[in-house]
Amino acid sequence: MERALPYRWDDNKKTLWLIDQRKLPHEEEWIPVHSAAEAAEAIKKMVVRGAPAIGVTAAFGMVLAHLAGEDLDEAEKKLAASRPTAVNLFHALERQRPHKGDLEASLAEAMAIWREVEETELAISRNGARVLKGQVLTHCNTGPIATGGYGTAIGAIVEAHRQGRIEHVWIDETRPYLQGARLTTWELQKAGVPATLISDNMAGHFMKLGEVDQVMVGVDRMAMNGDFANKIGTYSLAVLAAHHGIPFYPALPLSSVDPELESGDDIPIEERSAEEVTTIRGVPIAPAGFPARHPAFDVTPHRFVTGIVTEKGVFYPPFDEALRRAIGEV
Ligand code: MRU
Repeated sequence: MERALPYRWDDNKKTLWLIDQRKLPHEEEWIPVHSAAEAAEAIKKMVVRGAPAIGVTAAFGMVLAHLAGEDLDEAEKKLAASRPTAVNLFHALERQRPHKGDLEASLAEAMAIWREVEETELAISRNGARVLKGQVLTHCNTGPIATGGYGTAIGAIVEAHRQGRIEHVWIDETRPYLQGARLTTWELQKAGVPATLISDNMAGHFMKLGEVDQVMVGVDRMAMNGDFANKIGTYSLAVLAAHHGIPFYPALPLSSVDPELESGDDIPIEERSAEEVTTIRGVPIAPAGFPARHPAFDVTPHRFVTGIVTEKGVFYPPFDEALRRAIGEV
């Protein structure tokens, strides 16, 4: 599969390069990042996005903090404050903590986290492909550009298409940031997977017509009972899928599971600027100053989840027990 990755590490110049995802698919602009402060800004402003990619960027952010001579505790705080929902970011910072003051070890850890993204996503893709058939609907963007590997839900979808298991993908445009319209379309086009873009409010219509065989989405943070946060709109899709008797699968690396959380009630939900709702790519679509809300994620309760796709297999209820075993807690 032809893959566009979200970052490059230039070892000679000791620079992290990020493709500016805000400009895709129409412009491919690479931005150099030289410090943890710049990496945190890039995450906050969505130059780089997607739970695994945010984690890898934060890990490299700590490498850059060593190179730029930044205060390492401050650097960690800045990165931790960039976006609150995806737990991968916090796991990456936790893994970098013992290496503070050791540039070589910090760089080796960042590379290892990136390599693990690739390895786990190959397994997620194979496991996820097994539950897919016919037509699948997906939300937001979970492909290589969101992870640096092969993707989670998109990895499984591409693999299922390669195996001849699925023939068509419905892509939700994913208002307000349009990750589906801008990025998933672009990635599936590169991968040669037949797909159709729909606006988010069309999903129920195609489910009712019997044109959706299953829904597969990504995850930003999963609690131990299987509740999970993902892009705003995921919860509505899960309710619609349950109503129509359509299987619903989140796909994730186990690094997106938060062992500290029993349920999804305590997952912090990022609230982004209202302007991202009242404008589309800078063009106003509502009266100036009109009140708007922009929760960037929602939480889907585990009762709507058919199975959880991970690198260690597909888990079925009760999720708590399966997740504890998978992350080595029992
Ligand atoms: O706000 P974003 O674009 O970072 O949100 C991304 C998602 O919600 C993805 O579904 C999730 O991070 C999983 S990416 C494999």
